[in-house]
Amino acid sequence: MTREQHIAGIQKLRAEKNAIILAHYYTLPEVQDIADFVGDSLALARKAADTDADIILFAGVHFMAETAKILNPDKKVLVPDMSAGCCLADACKAADLARFKKEHPEYKVLSYVNCTAAVKALSDLIVTSGNALRLVNTFPKDEKILFAPDKNLGDYINRQTGRQMLLWDGMCRIHDHYTIEDLQLLKDSYPGVQVVAHPECRREFLAHVDFVGSTAAMISHISESPDKEFIVATESGILHELKKRNPDKTFYTLYNGDIAHDCGSMKKNNLEKMYNALLHEDPELTMDPELMAKAVAPIRKMLELS
Ligand code: 13P
Repeated sequence: MTREQHIAGIQKLRAEKNAIILAHYYTLPEVQDIADFVGDSLALARKAADTDADIILFAGVHFMAETAKILNPDKKVLVPDMSAGCCLADACKAADLARFKKEHPEYKVLSYVNCTAAVKALSDLIVTSGNALRLVNTFPKDEKILFAPDKNLGDYINRQTGRQMLLWDGMCRIHDHYTIEDLQLLKDSYPGVQVVAHPECRREFLAHVDFVGSTAAMISHISESPDKEFIVATESGILHELKKRNPDKTFYTLYNGDIAHDCGSMKKNNLEKMYNALLHEDPELTMDPELMAKAVAPIRKMLELS
């Protein structure tokens, strides 16, 4: 089938089956273009919480589809490629977190949404990069908190809020690999250009940027800025929305050695897989109802607080 046939087929099946297509900003441009809603982690969780579609086709990574399913246990959640994972989610195993909690019962667990349902079920509250700074302050200042699984985001929250959360040892391989040296090369080529970055980047890198924010916060910041050129330190998929909203602006991205700034998992979503998923209603994400019942509480709490 051609690309046009896949697009026509997705549109027809979506209407016939009352399906909604949710996509993260890191997915391929053609995936973002056909989606009903494109967002960052927070916006996608919000959208998943209030859709009246019968089927959710989630073009993102596994933990995001899990979140949509947990919020809609009676709906069918389809995933174009079940192997689209996240190294952050992989970094925190539920068994290890359960052991930590047993050994340190005095700690509350604050988890970044980039974690498995089993880890969410062991957490007191979930945050995204878009609401973490605000939601951490719902805990008393002297509360002992473990932040999992992103040590860079946790470190950023600590520095911004004066907290001393204990940090799990996980990181996003895209953001963690940006280096000051690569940034300096770009700054030398484009002097005076504003640098924006995701808080999943390392502390020493963030010390050299002008604006730190979630995917949606970076898009808003750039779109509202009078500046015309930006160095953007995050996953390449964001450029599609940035260029659509800001056709008059120029974006420079970092080349970080042999590790491309593409999230391979996000890029596994494509039109052919989306078409087949809608046609066959497969792969479908199924989850243990007991696990969903446990994991929903800290997610709902986040949505109520944000
Ligand atoms: P946001 O979507 O919250 O910016 O986070 C990026 C990310 O890690 C996606 O997996």
